[in-house]
Amino acid sequence: MIDFDIAKAWHKIFALHVEFVVEGIEKTSLDPHTVADDTVCDLGNWIFGSGRRYANSPAYNDLVETHIRFHYAASSMLVQHLAGNAATQLALFQATSAAVLASIDALASSAGALAAPVRADVPAEPVWQDSMRIGMKLIDEQHKELLGWIEKLNDQPGASVTSKSFVRAISAVKRLEQLHFETEETFMKRAGVPLDQMAGHIREHSRLLDLLVEIVTDGDDGIRKTAAEAHRAIKDQVIGHIVRYDLPLRFLVADSGSAGTDAPAK
Ligand SMILES: [Fe+2]
Ligand SMILES: [Fe+2]
Repeated sequence: MIDFDIAKAWHKIFALHVEFVVEGIEKTSLDPHTVADDTVCDLGNWIFGSGRRYANSPAYNDLVETHIRFHYAASSMLVQHLAGNAATQLALFQATSAAVLASIDALASSAGALAAPVRADVPAEPVWQDSMRIGMKLIDEQHKELLGWIEKLNDQPGASVTSKSFVRAISAVKRLEQLHFETEETFMKRAGVPLDQMAGHIREHSRLLDLLVEIVTDGDDGIRKTAAEAHRAIKDQVIGHIVRYDLPLRFLVADSGSAGTDAPAK
């Protein structure tokens, strides 16, 4: 089941990234030609990688098709954006993006593993708090998503950290962390964070990733033997990181004016 859920999370993160670039919320550039390629994003990798095991299902072909349509819509919207035209294609883009999520659900149903919608599935922000907001939408959304997935590690608290379900869940968390750290490090570089400060922050990112690897590698010989123990350690460290290293980024957001800011929650 986690296969489908994580595929949806990847897609949502990618779609948000494109949307924020077009809306000017995120000041990075995306190459429309690269974005047109449906095989290079994480969902594309999954579809043509481990997702291939569902290739016999008609729903699989539907997903391949809706995913291609989504990438074309994203690419042509970016072309319009680069030409300075208003994003008239946003509605189409959002519709094709929603179609991809629906296709993943359909594939999950046909595979006999009904995936609940991601929002209903990920706990309703029990961990995320408004005080963690740095004011850059993409990063804040990623933090929420990541914390939601960390909660899933505790679905079977008594399970061993070497159990199949836990290893799959922690792999999903690891990939989301990687995607998120890439975004954050790009943001820091663009915002001109001093190198020494950035080096410390980046080192902490590596340490958080190492922790995930260590938990699985140490397995039953490690100090965290159960899903509950591992979940507690990961959650504490990620929240600690957000508070200590990520929260100061909000001053950068404030300094760079509109770059990446969003309005406070009403
Ligand atoms: Fe960070
Ligand atoms: Fe972060």
